[in-house]
Amino acid sequence: MSLIIYGTQYGTSKNYAEKLAAIMGATVIDYRELPRKIEEPEVIFVGALYVGRMTGLKKVLQVLEPQKHRLTLVTVGMTDPAHPTLLTELQQPLRKKIAEKQLELRGIYHLQGAVDYEALALKHKMLIKPMLLAFKKQKPEELDAQAQMMLQAFDGLPPAVIDFAAFAEEIQN
Ligand SMILES: Cc1cc2nc3c(=O)[nH]c(=O)nc-3n(C[C@H](O)[C@H](O)[C@H](O)COP(=O)(O)O)c2cc1C
Repeated sequence: MSLIIYGTQYGTSKNYAEKLAAIMGATVIDYRELPRKIEEPEVIFVGALYVGRMTGLKKVLQVLEPQKHRLTLVTVGMTDPAHPTLLTELQQPLRKKIAEKQLELRGIYHLQGAVDYEALALKHKMLIKPMLLAFKKQKPEELDAQAQMMLQAFDGLPPAVIDFAAFAEEIQN
């Protein structure tokens, strides 16, 4: 039996976690409501990326036990899954944290998220706006892949179309 945990700020990861849970017949829970002990041996954590960090990962790693649990990570963010290096770079520190905890990592996956600048909290707008302005002043060819990703994301990328049934199958195999 699997437990699906989500870490979200604006609801995308919650929505993805709930869709997966419905397909897999798994229980789904917000990382902020985790009990001290988790009975399910298989844990899937669906967490939103903010400046390279996964919302809720610290708390999830606190409650999981190396001898008892196996973890599957699903990052949710604007990073293009098709980019040749961005995903590997982003996953490296996450893998390290899990290895430090001596947990078995069953797999690490990424789903394209969604972003709506107008709906962002002020603290996020204040982080994003100067960054986007600075990027826009540069020539597109001078921007690194991460900067291009942020510009694209906030210039209104169409919402990702995700086949959750296929994804659920992929992460369970
Ligand atoms: C301030 C800020 C920082 C972000 N940093 C990243 C990032 O480092 N990598 C990434 O792939 N996406 C990044 N994103 C995009 C979010 O991960 C994306 O919007 C995601 O769908 C949010 O999920 P949530 O609705 O579950 O919070 C960032 C978004 C904001 C607003």
